[in-house]
Amino acid sequence: MTTHDPVPGELPSFRLDGRLAVITGASQGIGRTFAEAYARVGAEIVLAGRNTERLGEVRRSIESAGGRAHTIAADLGTMDGIRSLERGVSKIIEASKRQLILVNSAGFGFTKAALDVTGQDWDHVLNVHAKATFFCSQFMARKMIDRKYGKIINLSSTWSVSTDLGKSMYGIAKAGVSYMTAALSTEWAPFGVRVNAIAPTTTLTENTSQIMRENPDRAKRLHDRIVMGRFAQPSDLVGAALFLASPASDFVTGHTLFVDGGWHAGG
Ligand SMILES: NC(=O)c1ccc[n+]([C@@H]2O[C@H](COP(=O)([O-])OP(=O)(O)OC[C@H]3O[C@@H](n4cnc5c(N)ncnc54)[C@H](OP(=O)(O)O)[C@@H]3O)[C@@H](O)[C@H]2O)c1
Repeated sequence: MTTHDPVPGELPSFRLDGRLAVITGASQGIGRTFAEAYARVGAEIVLAGRNTERLGEVRRSIESAGGRAHTIAADLGTMDGIRSLERGVSKIIEASKRQLILVNSAGFGFTKAALDVTGQDWDHVLNVHAKATFFCSQFMARKMIDRKYGKIINLSSTWSVSTDLGKSMYGIAKAGVSYMTAALSTEWAPFGVRVNAIAPTTTLTENTSQIMRENPDRAKRLHDRIVMGRFAQPSDLVGAALFLASPASDFVTGHTLFVDGGWHAGG
């Protein structure tokens, strides 16, 4: 029996003591919310993003609540940026015996009519959402495999399975994220690495709130598709994020968990 096999009669833990969580897109929005939540339940955090000022602010907020965090600035839209994150993360991991978590949350909303999508749009959307998710997972999986355990959590979206005007490019990227979640889980399950995704509906981060304010007709259309009758708040996603990072989900892999107020089921 490995230390991660369930002990009969013992309740699973949702705590992350003894874990080191690398979170991309941690300077704001969903990634920041997850970073602060993980730190509160015992994880040491590596915060990644481009904006050093905002990363520093998140680190200070974690530290002032008694947690521990590092920051690494990297543009994950490029392979050089991904490699630079890998180098920074490797140093921190080498100095730590903790078990590893990766959350791939770097991304951005993108809505544009298919007829107007350019080659540059295609590369940018796929690079940040799919390529960075794949290659960050790859370098972290190697380290997780060395430790015979790991958890990867990707950010997919309801747009991975639904359509709307202007969502082709973003949906293609997020369908790719959900597909890669399943595919990587199959390859890495024998080594103890679990790969899952969270698929939120419209979630009122600072950026998304502004987009919704600027497009009231679209906002109403999206709102009306959520059968629970409201948009998500970042805090609505935290339960799923804790579950998928913690030992409570050790037998769950390859799954995209919809946290969408019933959007998907409601058609
Ligand atoms: N909010 C929603 O409605 C919603 C719904 C479904 C899925 N999602 C997905 O959830 C994830 C997080 O979204 P969010 O709403 O939290 O977005 P957000 O508030 O705009 O934050 C995005 C984060 O990604 C980072 N980022 C963007 N481009 C980057 C790049 N090239 N290199 C490194 N970091 C980059 C940003 O950091 P810097 O600016 O510091 O680089 C920021 O920390 C995304 O994958 C998004 O597609 C969001």
